[in-house]
Amino acid sequence: MIHPSDWIDLTGKVAHVTGAAHGIGEAIATALAAAGAKVVVSDVNGEGAAKVAAAIGGASMVLDVADRDAVDSALEQTATEHGALDILVNNAGVYIGLGGPVRDITDEMWRKLWSINVDGVFYCCRAAARIMIAAGTRGRIINIASTQSVTPGVGVTYDGSKAAVLQITKALALELAPHGINVNALAPGPTWVQGGAPPKVDGRPPSPSGDPLADTVADRIARLPAGHWGDPMEQGKAAVFLASAMSDFVTGAYLPVDGGWLLL
Ligand SMILES: NC(=O)c1ccc[n+]([C@@H]2O[C@H](COP(=O)([O-])OP(=O)(O)OC[C@H]3O[C@@H](n4cnc5c(N)ncnc54)[C@H](O)[C@@H]3O)[C@@H](O)[C@H]2O)c1
Repeated sequence: MIHPSDWIDLTGKVAHVTGAAHGIGEAIATALAAAGAKVVVSDVNGEGAAKVAAAIGGASMVLDVADRDAVDSALEQTATEHGALDILVNNAGVYIGLGGPVRDITDEMWRKLWSINVDGVFYCCRAAARIMIAAGTRGRIINIASTQSVTPGVGVTYDGSKAAVLQITKALALELAPHGINVNALAPGPTWVQGGAPPKVDGRPPSPSGDPLADTVADRIARLPAGHWGDPMEQGKAAVFLASAMSDFVTGAYLPVDGGWLLL
């Protein structure tokens, strides 16, 4: 007798979610814990991470994913303190203050964003692969990409970084499949993480500002087929799918959870 609920049961699994003090990462950590996993919540914001961990019965640690040595220690610590590293969610990522038109991007902005969105993903994937392969863990790595991995819109720093995350995901999926490790990219569309009610999606594009980047995004949000912004828990649900036996034969996939953004 098949019980599909068994397929999403993560009891006994250990997950590490980066950037999980807020927003999509918080929702993913909450969803994985609700499915039964022991979740380690990490973030540069240690206080926020501790609050989320306390709410979901998990553990927390301070981690800057751009710090290679700290990443190696944090994932080792996860595995030694909790017995394994079964699931890694590379969620930490930034945009605000580091994007925009190319003429305004400084070297420092470029390097800062890529150090978190790309170097951070690489460091965490490498550390997790070493731990999972050594332990013989048939693990899961979920990289939080974006709709901007395949369509530009918010600028060269962020769009480029999320395209890199997608190709890193595919390259690792190919390399790690023989070890039984699945690597997939979850691509959120517009997801309201600012608190309070999201702005209405009323189908009427705003008047053009002359900035093609800003206009593309504003226009698409206004015409989003789903008719509303995404709740962070939509990403949490998809992460449970990618972390669980529901997706045993899924690797190297790009899963948009975007309310139809990519249809436009
Ligand atoms: N919200 C959206 O509409 C959307 C859409 C597509 C993709 N994404 C992606 O989803 C992920 C989460 O975004 P969000 O909207 O929840 O953002 P958010 O700002 O609400 O949360 C990001 C978290 O990452 C943490 N963080 C920042 N720098 C860090 C670092 N160096 N090391 C560890 N943690 C760090 C922050 O403290 C914060 O808690 C990001 O990768 C983002 O690019 C978001």
